[in-house]
Amino acid sequence: YKEVIRVEDITRFQSKSKEFFPMEWYQKMLSENPVHYHEDTDTWNVFRYDDVKQVLSNHEYFSAEGTRTTIAVGAKNKEGTPPDKLNISSIDPPRHQKSRSLLSAAFTPRSLKNWEPRIRNIAKQLVADLEFNTTIDIVEKLAAPLPAMVMADLLGIPLTDSHRFKSWVDILFQPATLENAEEIELKKQAAAQEYYQFLYPLVVNKRTNPGDDIITDLLNVDVEGEKFTEDEVVRTTMLLLGAGIETTSHMVSSTFYSFLYDEGDLYGQLRENPELVPLAVEEMLRYRFHNAKRHRTVKKDNQLLGVDLKKGDVVISWMSAANMDERMFENPFKIDIHRLNNKKHLTFGNGPHFCLGAPLARMELTLVLTAFVERVARVEAVDSFELEHNLSTSAPGQSLTHLPLTIIE
Ligand code: HEM
Repeated sequence: YKEVIRVEDITRFQSKSKEFFPMEWYQKMLSENPVHYHEDTDTWNVFRYDDVKQVLSNHEYFSAEGTRTTIAVGAKNKEGTPPDKLNISSIDPPRHQKSRSLLSAAFTPRSLKNWEPRIRNIAKQLVADLEFNTTIDIVEKLAAPLPAMVMADLLGIPLTDSHRFKSWVDILFQPATLENAEEIELKKQAAAQEYYQFLYPLVVNKRTNPGDDIITDLLNVDVEGEKFTEDEVVRTTMLLLGAGIETTSHMVSSTFYSFLYDEGDLYGQLRENPELVPLAVEEMLRYRFHNAKRHRTVKKDNQLLGVDLKKGDVVISWMSAANMDERMFENPFKIDIHRLNNKKHLTFGNGPHFCLGAPLARMELTLVLTAFVERVARVEAVDSFELEHNLSTSAPGQSLTHLPLTIIE
């Protein structure tokens, strides 16, 4: 297994809240230290838009393969890891292309169109169940359940089993500290195993009883004779859960945080003009996905970043910092849903590895916010809320564990 780089040694944030919104740090690095070598971790770190984009997309020089990584999700046993041929985040073109087309079969525009009403129903149902005029936790009631319910539905997991699915997901993406890493890893492996045992017969059954779902799509894939076995399909879903659940959940809760604490007018604007929701989604992806970063390994010596990079060097691309680069975004520290280039943010990456689930994530975020603004007139913050006590480490950085608010009809 790959060595996980301790990114917290690079950032050294003084509190969770600082990490939740590291804008001062980004600002400082963007202006004073845009190509920064960090000795303890032996990594190069880039922050400016053009550099970040170059590192993510120029696969001739910057490889997604390599022995060191900034991401560690899922469990380390066989059941918890995607099959090699599909480990698409960590292979380069041309090999990457084939793996990616295997997986894209489940993410065609046609599938997305079919999924839209199903996702809208889930979003509407969750919103309909919210209680008015009392304090509710929007993480518990909306941000956390939505992506897990959507994935369960799209995979074709029966609704009656979705709570089991959700509890495996919760364990699999539970953050670990240095102290409890081993204990958590064992729990994750057990959850991965249970999930595997649950899903395997379901996948076998879909061979003879196909449905309108991702599992069936994966079973039907045939790229130049390359197909999936049942085992591969089960483990591929693990990859999708890892990529799609925490990220989307993080975006929903952070957007509500923004409504309450960043930009008081924004909610009212969306309530009056729900057609603006997709614009708000893009701006939130730029502004509130605060800790997106990806590593690459230098493939050939080069000076593309203005410094001497040697084969084997690790470069970390700070996408969230690039999203705040004033060379690209005017007034970057201001929320402006009408920014003309608002889709240029790098939150979904860039180049060959551009997020395969981006259209799904965008659709999910748009549908849930639309369902919410159609029903709720106002959202109000709760005075006693303290950010620092309501954050915890997740794959996307610090994420809200609770966000209390009151909704008014
Ligand atoms: C890749 C972000 C949601 C599936 C990526 C990458 C980023 C990203 C930055 C590129 C990694 C790289 O360059 O190495 C996000 C964000 C999301 C989100 C911010 C939500 C707000 C989803 C969803 C799915 C998904 C919902 C599917 C269920 C994938 C896959 C890849 C990927 C399969 C690998 C693509 C490749 O390496 O070719 N995502 N993602 N993502 N994402 Fe997402």
